[in-house]
Amino acid sequence: MANERQFKLKTNFIATRNVKEYRATIPAWVTKSDVVLEIGCEWGTTTAQIAPFCKEVIGTDISLECIERARERHPGIEFAVLDAFDVRAALDLGREFTKIYIDVSGLSGYRSLLDVIALLTSYATVLRPEAIIVKSGALKQFASQCVAWHGEQTRAAARTKEAADGE
Ligand SMILES: C[S@@+](CC[C@H](N)C(=O)[O-])C[C@H]1O[C@@H](n2cnc3c(N)ncnc32)[C@H](O)[C@@H]1O
Repeated sequence: MANERQFKLKTNFIATRNVKEYRATIPAWVTKSDVVLEIGCEWGTTTAQIAPFCKEVIGTDISLECIERARERHPGIEFAVLDAFDVRAALDLGREFTKIYIDVSGLSGYRSLLDVIALLTSYATVLRPEAIIVKSGALKQFASQCVAWHGEQTRAAARTKEAADGE
């Protein structure tokens, strides 16, 4: 039986299919009061696009080579080496991140779906940002098939969605 008192995540998860969609979320989700973490920043291209929309942004990547290049290209932005799966190290960056962007290689295919969900729930539980925007086609596909049950109204919404998908 479901326990109404169980811990519920408050973080929104936004799944995007490719880099174009990933970057298109910036004006929609990032605001001037946000402190943003990008995980998997490579040379910092998206980090630099996020910067003008927020209070502070830190770009991170597992590769020191990428981080050095990002620092050269964007000297005004802070970059750090971070393994996405080391959530404790993200906590040690010492910021209250309100939005997190995740674009880590290998997380787009369907076989990585459980890894993506585990990663998202770890960050949502430990850092508690308002939203995590992730580049994962598999998660987007999965999420688009999910319907949270709230009674008959939900069934009607699912039928409307089915009809729209079939058009
Ligand atoms: C597609 S690139 C990111 C592109 C970048 N977000 C952008 O929009 O320009 C993926 C990056 O994930 C990084 N990466 C792979 N595994 C990682 C991990 N475990 N933790 C952090 N970064 C990782 C790679 O080094 C690579 O730079």
